Amino acid sequence: MTMVKKMLSAGWVLILILSLTACGNLSDAAGEGDGKITIVYAHDKNELGVEQKIIEAFEKKHPHIDVQSKEMPSNTGISHDQYVTMFSGGSDEIDVFDMDVIWPAEFAQAGYLEPLNRYIERDGIDLDKYSSGAVQAGMYNGQQWAMPRYQDQGLLYYRKDLIDQPPETWDQMIQLAEEHQGEAGTRFGYVFQGKQYEGLVCNFIEFIGAYGGKILDDQGRVTIQSEDTVQGLKKMTQIAKSDIVPGNLASITEVETDAIFGEGQTVFDRQWPGHYAYVSNEQKSEVNDRVGVTSLPKGDEGRAAALGGWMAGISKNSNQKKAAWEFVKFLTGPEGQKISAVYGGYAPTYMPLYEDKDVKKANPLFANEDYVQSVKTAIPRPVSPEYPKISDIIQVEVSKTLTGEQTPERAVQKMDQKLKKVFE
Ligand code: GLC
Repeated sequence: MTMVKKMLSAGWVLILILSLTACGNLSDAAGEGDGKITIVYAHDKNELGVEQKIIEAFEKKHPHIDVQSKEMPSNTGISHDQYVTMFSGGSDEIDVFDMDVIWPAEFAQAGYLEPLNRYIERDGIDLDKYSSGAVQAGMYNGQQWAMPRYQDQGLLYYRKDLIDQPPETWDQMIQLAEEHQGEAGTRFGYVFQGKQYEGLVCNFIEFIGAYGGKILDDQGRVTIQSEDTVQGLKKMTQIAKSDIVPGNLASITEVETDAIFGEGQTVFDRQWPGHYAYVSNEQKSEVNDRVGVTSLPKGDEGRAAALGGWMAGISKNSNQKKAAWEFVKFLTGPEGQKISAVYGGYAPTYMPLYEDKDVKKANPLFANEDYVQSVKTAIPRPVSPEYPKISDIIQVEVSKTLTGEQTPERAVQKMDQKLKKVFE
C-alpha cells in the first residue's frame, strides 16, 4: 500500500474529499498531498512497449505521479470479460484503462466509468480535432465517457516482393493470392481473423460494407436483411472455404495473423494499422523490409473498413481521479498519441498529428491523403450498451456460415430476426 493510499483510509481525508466533491471541485484529496501518487493504468499487451514509453514521458512531466502498468489479454473479448468481473465486484484496483471502441456505452450504462465532460470543458480540450467516429464511440447519453487514443481500421497488407500492384477488388485479390501462393516460401494467399470473436465481426462489417450491406441504418434501425449483405457474406464465405486461407482459419486472431505474415507465410493479410510497426520491425519479422500496406479491396459498392480502436477512461471506483485525468489527457492528447504513432505505428485520432513529420515517417499510410480521409469514413459498430449481445449474434451466425453449417441467406435471415429482438 502506498503512503497516499494509507493516508486515504484516514477519516479526515475522507471528510475532505466529500467536502471537495460537494463543492463540485475536480480535485480529489489524493492529488493534493506532497507525497507521490500512484495510479494504475491497464492496457492491452504491446510487443513494442509503447505504453511504457508513454508512461516514462508522462512521469517526467508529472514527477509526483507514478503510473503502474497492468497488462491485459490481447483478445478484446477476454479482456472485456475481465474488466466486467473486476468492476462489477467493485474493485478499485485500476484507475485508468484502455477500452475497445465498442465498450464505453456498455460500461457507462453499467456505472463503471467516470463521466469526462467537466474535465474536457475545464481543460478546453477541442474534440473537433479528433476523428469524429472515435469521439462518437466514447459518447453515450450526452456524455463523453472515454477519450480516443488510437484508431484502427481494416487494411490489406501484402508482400511487396511478390505483388507489384495491389488488387483493386476482392476478386482480384483472390486471383493474385492464388497466383502467388507458394512463391518465396509462402503457404497461404490470404489470412484474416476467422475465429469466433470480435475480430470476425469487424471482417464481416468490411465484407458486407464493400457490397453495400449494413447492420443498422442511419436512424439506428436494423437493416441487415438485404441482398447486399448476402453478397458480402457470400464473398467472405467463398474466401474462407477456398485454399488460399489456412485450414485453421477458425482459430486465427490478430496475434496469429502477425505471426503468419511475419514468418513470411502469406502473400496478403487483413490487419489493423498498428500492426505495421510489428511486421516491419527487424527483430520481430522476417519480412520486415517487404511489407506493403493499402486499403482493403472493393466489392460492388466500393471499399469498406471497420472502425476499431482504443480509448482511455477513468474507473468510477478510482480514488485518484485528478491524477487519473492528467494521465488520460496526456495519453490521448498530442504528446501521448505521437509516441503511440511513432513507436507503435498506431493511427492517431488527434487529426493534426497527420501533419507531423515524425508521424508521417512512422507508417507510410499516415502520409497518404486518401488514408487520412478514410480515417473519417471507417464504419462504426453500433454504439449501444447492448453491444455484447449484438456481437454474439453476428459471431455465431457468421462462424456457422464460414464452416458451411448454413447458407449466407439463412445466416442473414437469422441475424435480422435476432438483432431486431435486441433493439425492440
Ligand atoms: C482491434 C480493434 C478493436 C476490435 C478488435 C477486434 O483491437 O482496435 O476495435 O474490436 O481489434 O479483434
